[in-house]
Order: sequence, then structure tokens, then C-alpha cells
Amino acid sequence: MNKKPIIIDTDPGIDDAVALAIALHDKTLDVRLITTVHGNVSLEKVTRNALKLLHFFNKDVPVAAGSDRPLLRDVIDASEVHGESGMDGYEFAAPGNILLKDEHAVNAMYKEIMESKEKITLVPIGPLTNIALLIRLYPEVVKEIKEIVLMGGSTSRGNASPAAEFNILADPEAAKIVFQSSVPIVMLGLNIGDKAKIYNEDSKKIKDLNQTGRMIHDLFQHYRGGTMETGLTMYDSTAIGYLSKPDMYQVAEAYVDVEVTGQLTMGATIVDLEHQFEQQSNAKVAVDLDDQAFKHWLINSLARCN
Ligand code: RIB
Ligand code: CA
Repeated sequence: MNKKPIIIDTDPGIDDAVALAIALHDKTLDVRLITTVHGNVSLEKVTRNALKLLHFFNKDVPVAAGSDRPLLRDVIDASEVHGESGMDGYEFAAPGNILLKDEHAVNAMYKEIMESKEKITLVPIGPLTNIALLIRLYPEVVKEIKEIVLMGGSTSRGNASPAAEFNILADPEAAKIVFQSSVPIVMLGLNIGDKAKIYNEDSKKIKDLNQTGRMIHDLFQHYRGGTMETGLTMYDSTAIGYLSKPDMYQVAEAYVDVEVTGQLTMGATIVDLEHQFEQQSNAKVAVDLDDQAFKHWLINSLARCN
């Protein structure tokens, strides 16, 4: 079977680490490039975290660092959720920089997309700054991208504010550019991530799988995206899950736009599931997830790691 070529744009991030572990060991996916973006912690830290993970997994995937800040606004972070390093809880070996490309993520993405024989799927699991810059700097790339499968937004409430999910709130203008780009989009929002939960007994199973499982179990002790009792939310893995096993999801076509002026609602994704704006749909929005199938998929996927 032909592997699906993808580029993952990420801000590792403990839930990003789980998503990357799965994607890098999924035989149906061809991870061509990993690009990093400001988000959970600084660009420098998320880039080192991506390199640490690739060294840990012994995977030779090129990494390119992207934007260290949003298009317009001040940087925010989520170190209270992931720890100061962005991946607190496990002492990774120093990775070196051999996989780090000496070019900006946007240029690396552009070249990979334009030189690829097959159309590439972009998988942003952090703020959308790099993707927005790619679209603005190289408009010709829009028709060459197969799809953008992104973790971000919500059909309901936010997590970084009552109205906004973190990846969107971190750069609302970038998100607006992406949703208005006409690139086919699949949106995996908090409404899905909040069903994608790992509990204490699951984490113990993961720990017993292999050394990746032991590393992830250690990270989970420091992850504050939920608790072991209420469930740890595997937000970013929901984007990988959609690529790997889409039948776990129910999706609906909808017009999605991003609030960029509201004081209280800044960064909210307005998902018009009832077509009240009478706008053409611009995204497939995941509206439900088979949570038991997802959990089994996640654990079975981690079992394939080293
Ligand atoms: O709101 C969840 C998202 O914000 C995830 O991508 C998590 O890693 C953080 O970046
Ligand atoms: Ca993330």
C-alpha cells in the first residue's frame, strides 16, 4: 500500500510527543519533514524537543524550525501544562543538530511540497503561524497541498479561554488565514480531544509495552492536560488518528471562521454546523469520536514503537 506523505508542524509538547511517536512508527504514513513552531514552550525548546524525540526513536526525519512568535500578537505558552522544558518528566539524551535543516520551516515545507511526486498532507498540531506564512509567501502552494489535517479549535468551549482553544488563541490571525485559504481542511477540535482520554490503567499498560511506553508514562506524570483520574487528553494524536483510522470519527462539512476582534471571544472557532451564515463550507469538522476504538488504536500504535 502506498504510504501517505505528510509534514507534521508541531510544538512538542507532551501530547505532541505521543502523536509523533505514533506517526513515526505508522506503516501507512511517510513523515517527510517535521517543522516546529512557537506554542507550548519557546521555539528553541520545541525544536530541541523534536530533535530529542527523533534521537530517542532513532528516526532520520529532517527538522526545520519555523516562527518563534505569532503574526501580530505577543507569544503565549502552555508550560503550566507541559512543564518548563515542554516535555518534563523524562531525561532525554542530547540529540545533536544533525537533523536540523539550515532553512526556515516555511521554505522547507514549500520545497518538500513542490518537489514531491505525490500531494502532501500538512498536519499542524500547534499554532498555525508557519502554515499561514507558507500560504502568504507562496500562494501557488495552495493547489499543491492535498489536505490540512489540524488539531485546533473547538465546536464548543475553549481550553485556553472560555471561548478559545490554545493553538488558535496562540495565533488567531494565522488561523483565520488558514481557514480562508481554500485548502481542504479537516479540523480535530477540543470537542474530539476531550473524548480522547488515557486513564491510569491505560498508562500502566503503555508503560509495560516498550521503552517508548516507559518514556510516555513518565511524561504523563507531568502532563497537566487533565488528570489520571479524569483522563489525560491526547489532543494531538486525534489528528494522527484521523489519518490512520478515519472510521473512528464522524465528520460534518461546515463553514469555519476565527474571531480576531472580540475581547472575550478572541481566538474562538465559529463552526457553522447549521449553515446559518449561508457561507460555503470550508472544512470537514470532526463532531464525534469512538473513544474506545481510539484508545485501543493509540495503545496498539504505541505497541509498534521500540
Ligand atoms: O489545545 C490543545 C493543543 O494545545 C495541543 O496541540 C497541545 O499540544 C497544545 O499545543
Ligand atoms: Ca501541540
